[in-house]
Amino acid sequence: MTQEIEMIWKDAEAALQKTTSVEELENVRISFLGKKGTITQQLKTLGRLTPEERQVVAPALNQLKTKLLSSLQEKKEAFETASLNEKLKTESLDISLPAQPLDAGSLHPTRQVMHEVISIFGQMGFTVAEGPEVEEDTKNFDLLNIPSHHPARQMQDTFYLPDREDGQKMVLRTHTSPVQIRTMLTQEPPIQIIVPGRVYRSDYDMTHTPMFHQVEALMIGENINMGHLKGCLVSFLTAFFGINDLPVRFRPSYFPFTEPSAEVDIGCSRKDGTLKIGAGDDWMEILGCGMVHPNVLENCGIDAKRYQGFALGMGVERMAMLKYGIPDLRTFFEGDLNWHKHYGFNAFDAPSFLNGLAGGIGR
Ligand code: DAH
Repeated sequence: MTQEIEMIWKDAEAALQKTTSVEELENVRISFLGKKGTITQQLKTLGRLTPEERQVVAPALNQLKTKLLSSLQEKKEAFETASLNEKLKTESLDISLPAQPLDAGSLHPTRQVMHEVISIFGQMGFTVAEGPEVEEDTKNFDLLNIPSHHPARQMQDTFYLPDREDGQKMVLRTHTSPVQIRTMLTQEPPIQIIVPGRVYRSDYDMTHTPMFHQVEALMIGENINMGHLKGCLVSFLTAFFGINDLPVRFRPSYFPFTEPSAEVDIGCSRKDGTLKIGAGDDWMEILGCGMVHPNVLENCGIDAKRYQGFALGMGVERMAMLKYGIPDLRTFFEGDLNWHKHYGFNAFDAPSFLNGLAGGIGR
């Protein structure tokens, strides 16, 4: 019997020797270990043997089975490695083809200019504050010294919303100035904030859109005066436009929330219909500012005898139009990709305003 087993192994070895593929290996497995395979048949006869014979034959058959299975596995792996090597030799990847271009996005001029303004004020110690776009009309108007009968309410065409449940009138904020109120109601001076954000007015033409962006600045302390306002603004404007000797002019004006109030102009020329900032003898209005009105301080519980401060506000798109020569405000919000490609900014470029900072702020 063990001789017979020896013979089966010889046959199996010979059959294995002849195989050239994984498929042929499978055939060998079936002919020895399949349902009707030689070894399977032998295993079935074990029952007919005497216990003594079985004690010898059974382990020998099982050994044979294990040996054959491991030889099959070994050969299978060898075939697979060989076929993989063959593939690697014959197939190749053409890496000379150009890669698909990545469609990288770019920064919208509004976002870019917001970053520029915030980082210049950031260098001067201002920190960012924000507030809600759906605002209480008391914070948007009343507490800013614009009571309901005040003609300044008509200066800003307001979107009104349904009253809040407690009866509070609600608006889409018409400026970022209510964030001044929110900050002064919750923080003790000294206060030094820069407030970027969306604002809304019911207006639409070449220089007005129903939504646009403003940046507001507020500084409150014990000895803050108009000199600080002027120094701060001259530093900001020279850095922003990157022009060291930028002419800056303060013109008396009126805002209900500041006293005195001023509008700030920068020097420019408009020769042959092209606007050039920083040269010539013409002026361009750029932003509003002033010393915070004592009523506003008192409305927020700040002692106006002890504390003073200045505030300023500017339109972000207007600043972008002037700095980057974009003629029509409405185009900022049309979502035209060609416009965006033309005026947008590479998000990974070193910001151009850094050049301005070097000479402008002087540190
Ligand atoms: N809130 C004003 C507006 O929207 C802009 C402004 C002017 C803000 C003077 C100020 C300021 O803080 O002092 O037209």
